[in-house]
Amino acid sequence: MTRSDVPLALQLTVQAGWNQTPADWLRMLEMEPNGCLVAEVEGTLVGTTVCCTFDGIAWLALVLVDTGFRERGIGRRLVQTGLKYADDMGVRTVRLDATPLGRPVYERLGFQPQFELSRWGGIPTSSVVNSSMPQVEVETLAADYEPLFELDRRAICTNRKKLLQRLFAESPPAIVRTAGRVASFLTRRPGRISTQIGPGIGSRGECRMLLERELVASRGQPVIIDIPVDRPDLNAVVEQAGLTVQRTLLRMYRGETVVENASLFQISSGAELG
Ligand SMILES: CC(C)(COP(=O)(O)OP(=O)(O)OC[C@H]1O[C@@H](n2cnc3c(N)ncnc32)[C@H](O)[C@@H]1OP(=O)(O)O)[C@@H](O)C(=O)NCCC(=O)NCCS
Repeated sequence: MTRSDVPLALQLTVQAGWNQTPADWLRMLEMEPNGCLVAEVEGTLVGTTVCCTFDGIAWLALVLVDTGFRERGIGRRLVQTGLKYADDMGVRTVRLDATPLGRPVYERLGFQPQFELSRWGGIPTSSVVNSSMPQVEVETLAADYEPLFELDRRAICTNRKKLLQRLFAESPPAIVRTAGRVASFLTRRPGRISTQIGPGIGSRGECRMLLERELVASRGQPVIIDIPVDRPDLNAVVEQAGLTVQRTLLRMYRGETVVENASLFQISSGAELG
């Protein structure tokens, strides 16, 4: 993929009803120029995928085939080519969040299920602030992100600095400190249809407060948010705000198992970022 492919790649995401903006594709191209792949039939772009590497761990995403070209083996070829790129980069584990349509393709290529996430969406309506929670000071951090990179690395067991520094430059994260140290952070990014809330990383109670605050700030505007199903308190917060589950995503892996730290990984960055 090159920058000139972005308009056609974007058309595929629009056709699938996905949320990506040109900025999402350009960020991928900047982060991993050789891992952004396209499938062409007679010179026309009909499919995409992105394999983004983070020191031995890769995130595979944006596997998309034009509706007129599906079930001809193109999706499989794209994923196989992404896996070959990961191998060439010395990656031990390839991870992804699968949609129901993607799941059979990945299963056939040896991916194993890990856990489910709910994709919540809608327009936050009611007030969600839980008055029994202690009031904490929330800051917007505009510099010195190293403690956040470290917290994220402990949560995801992956060094995602190259992704986070770009997300933070686009939209500075909200943070909560306890005893002077960053306990939790949450950020967001604009989407074609909805603002994607996440990643939300750090201790659960503080992340929940950041989430409540973000939902209040987003009242009246469409949002989406991906939360592991086994975070009942966080799922309850978004449900109480009037959001509904739009689909379930399955986190899958191929290679060595990488396990998130459940006490620090709270809200995903979305299916294309993990
Ligand atoms: C998922 C997607 C990329 C698959 O692309 P595709 O080109 O149709 O897939 P392929 O033809 O290469 O199929 C690969 C394998 O999966 C199977 N498969 C593909 N679609 C399937 C479906 N809807 N139901 C059951 N099996 C399916 C094929 O039979 C094939 O198996 P085989 O190799 O044993 O014959 C395509 O459906 C798509 O773009 N969907 C919308 C976006 C999306 O959800 N992407 C996945 C993100 S995680």
